[in-house]
Parts: sequence; structure tokens; C-alpha cells
Amino acid sequence: MRRGILLALAGGASLAAARTIDYDYDFKPVAVSGGGYITGIVGHPTEKDLLYTRTDIGGTYRWDARGDQWIPLNDFIGAEDENLMGTESIALDPTDPDRLYLAQGRYLSSDNTAFFVSEDRGETFEVYPAPFLMGANELGRNNGERLAVNPFKPEELWMGTRTAGLMKSEDRARTWTNVTNFPDAATNGIGIFFVIFDPENEGTIYVGVGVPNGLYYTTNSGETWESVPGQPTEWDSSVLVFPNETQPLSTGPQPMKAVLASNGALYVTFADAPGPYGATYGGVYAYNTTSAEWANITPNADNSYPAPFANQSFPAGGFCGLSVDAKDPNTLVVVSLDRDPGPALDSIYLSHDGGRSWKDVSQLSTPPGSGGYWGHPIEDAAFKDGTPVPWLSFNWGPQWGGYGAPSPVRGLAKFGWWMTAVLIDPSNSDHVLYGTGATIWATDNLSRADKNRSPDWYIQAQGIEESVALAMASPNGGPSHLLTGLGDINGYRYDDLDVPQPMFDLPVFSNLNALDWAGQKPRTIIRAGPCGHNYTDGCGLAAHSVDGGSTWTKFTTCIPGVEVGTPNPGVIAIDASGKHIVWSSAMTTYWPALQAITSRTNESGPYSTTDLGKTWVSPTGFNAQTPNISADRVQPGTFYSFTDKNWYLSRDGGLSYRSFKAKDVGLPVYPGAVPIANFNRGGEIWLALGDLGVYHTQNFGRRWTRITGRGVAARHLTIGAGARRSSKPALFIVGKAATHGPLSQDGVYRSDDNGKTWVRVNDEEHQYGGVAMIQGDPRVYGRVYLGTGGRGIVYADIKKGKP
Ligand SMILES: *[C@@H]1O[C@H](CO)[C@@H](O)[C@H](O)[C@H]1NC(C)=O
Ligand SMILES: *[C@@H]1O[C@H](CO)[C@@H](O)[C@H](O)[C@H]1NC(C)=O
Ligand SMILES: *[C@@H]1O[C@H](CO)[C@@H](O)[C@H](O)[C@H]1NC(C)=O
Ligand SMILES: *[C@@H]1O[C@H](CO)[C@@H](O)[C@H](O)[C@H]1NC(C)=O
Ligand SMILES: *[C@@H]1O[C@H](CO)[C@@H](O)[C@H](O)[C@H]1NC(C)=O
Ligand SMILES: *[C@@H]1O[C@H](CO)[C@@H](O)[C@H](O)[C@H]1NC(C)=O
Ligand SMILES: *[C@@H]1O[C@H](CO)[C@@H](O)[C@H](O)[C@H]1NC(C)=O
Ligand SMILES: *[C@@H]1O[C@H](CO)[C@@H](O)[C@H](O)[C@H]1NC(C)=O
Repeated sequence: MRRGILLALAGGASLAAARTIDYDYDFKPVAVSGGGYITGIVGHPTEKDLLYTRTDIGGTYRWDARGDQWIPLNDFIGAEDENLMGTESIALDPTDPDRLYLAQGRYLSSDNTAFFVSEDRGETFEVYPAPFLMGANELGRNNGERLAVNPFKPEELWMGTRTAGLMKSEDRARTWTNVTNFPDAATNGIGIFFVIFDPENEGTIYVGVGVPNGLYYTTNSGETWESVPGQPTEWDSSVLVFPNETQPLSTGPQPMKAVLASNGALYVTFADAPGPYGATYGGVYAYNTTSAEWANITPNADNSYPAPFANQSFPAGGFCGLSVDAKDPNTLVVVSLDRDPGPALDSIYLSHDGGRSWKDVSQLSTPPGSGGYWGHPIEDAAFKDGTPVPWLSFNWGPQWGGYGAPSPVRGLAKFGWWMTAVLIDPSNSDHVLYGTGATIWATDNLSRADKNRSPDWYIQAQGIEESVALAMASPNGGPSHLLTGLGDINGYRYDDLDVPQPMFDLPVFSNLNALDWAGQKPRTIIRAGPCGHNYTDGCGLAAHSVDGGSTWTKFTTCIPGVEVGTPNPGVIAIDASGKHIVWSSAMTTYWPALQAITSRTNESGPYSTTDLGKTWVSPTGFNAQTPNISADRVQPGTFYSFTDKNWYLSRDGGLSYRSFKAKDVGLPVYPGAVPIANFNRGGEIWLALGDLGVYHTQNFGRRWTRITGRGVAARHLTIGAGARRSSKPALFIVGKAATHGPLSQDGVYRSDDNGKTWVRVNDEEHQYGGVAMIQGDPRVYGRVYLGTGGRGIVYADIKKGKP
């Protein structure tokens, strides 16, 4: 349905005919499929195919079996609530499949936390502010579930919190009270990992605190609590294979996850650190809740097949991932944690006898000759319908800082790391899903492992998009409409926005912070980002391609001040001819939450080069360290910067700049902004100046005019193909387009008449926790790419049939 035509009135002008038509939009993900850490997968105990996945920064998803994809449930979260775009825990109501409870909040540093409560499987939610902190992207996010529904009183929920102890709600998560008699509130930021109701015995609850001796239970609904007797409190000396080199990080095993099976066995995984990284020791135990006896069922050389890989040269890691077959209490899978960096990587183990013996499913699934680096043949990295997910190869590049993604074995996609979310589908014992730091793998033939064969694996992550956009570019020619740079997983060239693409080839970056294309040679592109590998034959932090991103050449040297270990090498721009490149290490930070990890020590530049970094020249007339640099798309050798209240213009490839005081060229006093140059007209540029609106020049910045009226605030700006019969490109901003009415809401807006009138592009259902980057498409009218901080990149197109 078409919304009403809305006008932003310029300076109180009378109602003119709207020149920007308000079309409805379609929003679709630019497909990565995963792209980040899967923290939990849960299945409803009675309703077939009702599965949910939680993520640390990208909210929660529901499996849509008919549509063969995951449906995002949290996209209505606005920019001001960005912290809510992370799910600390999911609880399902065993008595009512329609009810869903989500505990939302990413960081302990924010008190913006909430419960999302749904009666329709997440189609709609009531949102209740939570009276305690959450940490969906903090240490220990791999454990749980912290939140649970009492099966005997489904309006009652309990939650093991990080900083507030054990909490209880009797009104479906609206209000909460402290269970003050719980013996260990563990208000240390890690807190209480799980709450498990015994569905057979009303009043019996098991609670796991992330500390040694952390298991407690009650049989009288919490009136009194006992420590679970006999729980392992000492490290089994046989697992301490390197006692001198590496001691366990905790004085005793700490519970991570637990499942109470229908035969009364409480299976518990243990580790010495909360995870998902840093665990060095752990184990798996089963507690007979009838006899109060414990059994150590940790997979080891004596009870697992194939035998563990012998060449392990570091502690064996902990255990976390755990799932029990709903149909057979003796069938379970457990997953080791942090056996990285290999060889003998993390394994998924399967048992049919309550943990007395195990099959190492990871090892059985790996083709021979991997040397302990378990992996799937890269051809298996595909959806069930055969669509490949080729980026999961990580191009077999060198390991990068702290992120164990690339497999050293060419041809294998790493079997996984951080495989803490694992689920035997309650309605299909052969269907198992496991999350990794990047995606979800699944099989429909787990039982093939019983015959010592590999199950058939595929990717079941379609619809989940949880990456962080760091850079986008849309060239006006060449094979692809979109180039992307993402947090943690390098960058991509999209020949088809709807299917996952190969990752940019070596050098692979752990983040891709900057991208640009040459305005008159759109297949010539450059990129920059941190790279932990110390290349001896060039600078691994920037690369150049002349074939639209298929093959890449490293720069000969990095600019001064940038080297291996530089967490953000800054911005890079290429002139229209593709000959001149400018690099400045001053970084842009779109995501405040990322500031900590990208904080940097060396700022340097800008420098220019014409020989791919054999030589770098420091320019005359401009030595401000700024991310606000860009190139003209038509005039060769032309670079711009609006920085420190000055307009800078270089016409000689960045060797020298002329500077103009802002007020002398009609610009307001403003710290700076990225100049946005027209892709088919030299010297035409726009600047988004926040509350001061949008400024425009047609003569290389010698004279600027404010083109927006009162009430237009533009934090970011981009341009795209103009409307039919229009010589003007479409403008898009992130911000507001009026002082009152619907256009006063923060959002993404489009103008087809160079800023006079605006319409809203995204609606309240499509906010993604905030859109901080936008990119127009020079070849598709109306299209805008929305870069989010946890929901990847979304492309918004005018609905078909509305030209
Ligand atoms: C709840 O009670 C525990 C134990 O008395 C205490 O440590 C914790 O701080 C309390 N939480 C809140 C939010 O008051
Ligand atoms: C470990 O330390 C103990 C006591 O310090 C020592 O006796 C033993 O030889 C050491 N073992 C190894 C493998 O270094
Ligand atoms: C638990 O112990 C009881 C009593 O010894 C026994 O009957 C039962 O089979 C045990 N359960 C499991 C799951 O081993
Ligand atoms: C790895 O272990 C095998 C035997 O299990 C042995 O033959 C081989 O030499 C070992 N490799 C290294 C690098 O230690
Ligand atoms: C694995 O399961 C799928 C889906 O049920 C089936 O199509 C396929 O034939 C099975 N493969 C084997 C080797 O059993
Ligand atoms: C990178 O390698 C070069 C040459 O081997 C060496 O001089 C330099 O110290 C290394 N830098 C880092 C950060 O490892
Ligand atoms: C980075 O900055 C520090 C402190 O200013 C300086 O000592 C060092 O030389 C710089 N590093 C490079 C590679 O320029
Ligand atoms: C760069 O532009 C941003 C706004 O886009 C502004 O906040 C920042 O102060 C500018 N920095 C410089 C050094 O110009």
C-alpha cells in the first residue's frame, strides 16, 4: 500500500507539488548467511520445526520450515535502542508453542535492557524494560539458557543474571523479584548460566553458577537450596596433560550447560573459563538425580572413536555445547571448546549410551589427511538446495588475531570454532544443527556416524545476517552493484545480492574498513583493513584490484605509521582515473561499541601514491589527519576534504591542496564531513552536516549552498541513480527530514529533487538497531544499501510495479 505523499517544507514554503514520490519499499538482506557468532539454538519440545537461534549482536531468528529460512524477529529496534539488538537468552513455554520470551541487551555497560514477550512466536512483542543488566555480547554468552519458564506455572519465569543474582517473575517477565536466598548470587558480570525446571517434579529446579562447585538445586520451588552433592570440584588429573606449562584457569570445573534428560540424568558440561574463548580444560559429567551418583563421561582416548588426534600440543580445551535427544535420553552430543589453534581442533561427540562411549563426529566428517584440522570439504558449505556459501573457505588465509576462522588445509572449511550452540532437533533425531563463530551447519543424517561414516552436512543459516557493516561501495559500472567491507569477515563483491559470495581473496582482513572505486574505471577498486599476518612481500593492510575484485595486489609498502597490528588502517581513496591513491590512517568509527577494539595509536597521512605504494608522498597544503577524504568520480587527480572547518581541494593527485576557510566558500563552521561526489559530473559534491542539513556545490567546492530547509538533519548522505527523466541523482540521508510529523522520526530518507522534498525509506519495522551507513546505487533508481551494526547490510528497493 502506498503511504500518503509527505512534504518537508523548506523554510515554511507553501505546499508545492511533491517532487519526491513516496513509494513503498522492499527490504532484503545482502546475503552472507551468518557472518557472526551463533550463541544459542533452541527447539520447542513438542512443536515440530519450531526452532529459534539467538546471536550476540544480531537478535533472534525463528526457523521457517516452509520458507526454508530463518526469520529475523528484532528488526523493529531503533537506533536509540541499539543495545537491545543482542539476545542474552531465549525461553520457550513447553505448554504453549506460541509463547516466546527473549532477554535482550548486548553489553553490561548499558542499562538499556528489556524482555521481549510474544504470544505469536515473535511476530509481535510486548517490550518490558528489565530491571537488571544483560550481556549478550559479553563473556559467558555461549552458556545457558539463563531464562526458563516454569512448566507447572507458565506465567512464572526465572532468570540467572550476570549482576543481580537469581531473579523470578510471576507475571510473564513484566516484573521481577530477587531470589535472595539463593546461595551464590555471583554478581560478577558472568553470573548464573542456567536454570532448569524438572518437568516431572514440581518444585525441583537446577541452577548452574559459572564458578567451581556452582551447581545448586531446590525441591521446594526455591524455599531452600542445596549444593548438588558430589559434583566435581577437582580437576581430573588425567586431563591436565600439561601441568607445568598451563594450569587450569579455575580451581575446579565450572558448569557451562546442562540438560535434564527424561530418565533423570542431568548431563553437565564444564570448563575453566566462561568462554567462548580462553577455556583450556573441562569435562563432561552425568548426574543421576535419583541415586545422586556422578559419572565422568568426558570423551577421551579410552572411550571415543576415532581416537583423539595424538599431536595435540596444548591443553585440550573445555566443554560447553550439549544437546540430548528428546526421544532417547541416552543419546546426546557434546562439543569441546577452544582446542584452537590446532591441530586436534574442537570436536562434536555423539553418544547413544549416556556418555559411556562416543563417536568423534568431527573427525569422522573430515576427509583423511587433514592432520587434525577438522573440516568440511568446501563443496559442503552450501544450503540444502545446493546454493554455495563460498566465503566459509576464508580463502585458507593466514590465521588472524584471535579469530580462528581460516582452515590451514586448502579445500576444507574449518569444521567450527566456538561450537557452543548445538541442537538435536526435538522432532527429528537425525537432524542436528550446530553454530560456529560464523554460521550454522546442519545434517539430516547424524546416524551415519553410528556406522563410522560422515553425515551429509549443509549450511542452515539462510536468513541469519549478523555482521557489522564497515564499508560499502556501489560502482557505476562493472560486474557488481555492491562491494562490502564487514567486521570480522573481510569483504565481498556482489554479483548477486541474494546469494552468499566468495570472500575477497588474499590478503584477507579481519575487518574491512575502507573501500573505493575509480570513477572512470569502475573495475579498479581498493580496500584497506587490519591484517594480522606479517607479509614479507608487501603491505597486507591494503590491496588493489583492476578486475572488479577478483584478484588483488598488495601495496608495496604501507603508509608510515601503519604496520602489522594496526587495528584500523584508516581511509583510502582512488581518483577517477585510477592512477592516484590517497591513504590516511585517521579512522572513521561508525560503531561506538567497536571503538574499544579499533582504538589506535598511530595516525598518519594523508599520503599519496601513483605506484601502488612503492613511494608515498606527504602533500603540501594539507596535513590534517582525517577520515573525511574522497575523490572526484569524473575529474582525474582530484581529491577533496572537509576537515577542521576548511575545505581542501587537490587537482594534482593529492600532491598539493588548496585550502579555503569554510565561511569564504559558504560553508558553516563545522568540524568536518566526508565529501560525496557525483558519479557522473565532475566538481559536484554534497556534504551532510548534521543538524545544519545538506550542503551542495557544483564548482569543486568554491561555492556552497545549503539545499535543505529547516528540520532536515543529515548524519550521513549518499547518492544514487536519479528518477526517470531527472538529471539529478537521488539523495539519501540518515537523520530526520522535518521538525514534526512522521518525517521528524530518525530514519533513512530519499529526495529526488536535490533536497527540497523528502520521503521516508525505512519504516518502524525496518530499523535494525540503527542504520549508520548508507550507499546509493548509481544504476538503480530508488535503491539504497543500509549498513547496520549487527544485522549486516540490507538493500531497500522500491516495490516492483511502482516505477
Ligand atoms: C539479590 O540478592 C542477592 C543475594 O542477597 C544479592 O547478592 C544481589 O545483589 C541481589 N540483587 C539485587 C538486584 O538486589
Ligand atoms: C613438572 O614440574 C614438576 C615439579 O616442579 C617436575 O618434577 C616435573 O619434572 C615437571 N614436568 C615436566 C614435564 O616438565
Ligand atoms: C539412576 O540410579 C537408579 C538407582 O540406582 C537406577 O535405577 C537408574 O537406572 C539410574 N538412572 C540412570 C539414567 O542411569
Ligand atoms: C604426530 O603423531 C604421529 C603419531 O601419532 C607421529 O607419527 C608424527 O610424527 C607426529 N607429528 C608431529 C609433528 O609430532
Ligand atoms: C541424508 O538425509 C537427506 C535428507 O533426509 C537425504 O536426502 C539423503 O539421501 C541422506 N543421505 C544419506 C547418505 O543417507
Ligand atoms: C614483520 O616482519 C619484518 C621482516 O621479517 C620484521 O622486521 C618485523 O619486525 C615484523 N613485524 C612484526 C610486527 O612482526
Ligand atoms: C607510532 O606512534 C608512536 C608514538 O607516537 C611512535 O613512536 C612510533 O614510531 C609510531 N609508529 C610508526 C610505525 O610510525
Ligand atoms: C570527519 O567527519 C565527521 C562527520 O562525518 C566529524 O564528526 C569529524 O569531526 C570529522 N573529522 C575531521 C578530522 O574532519
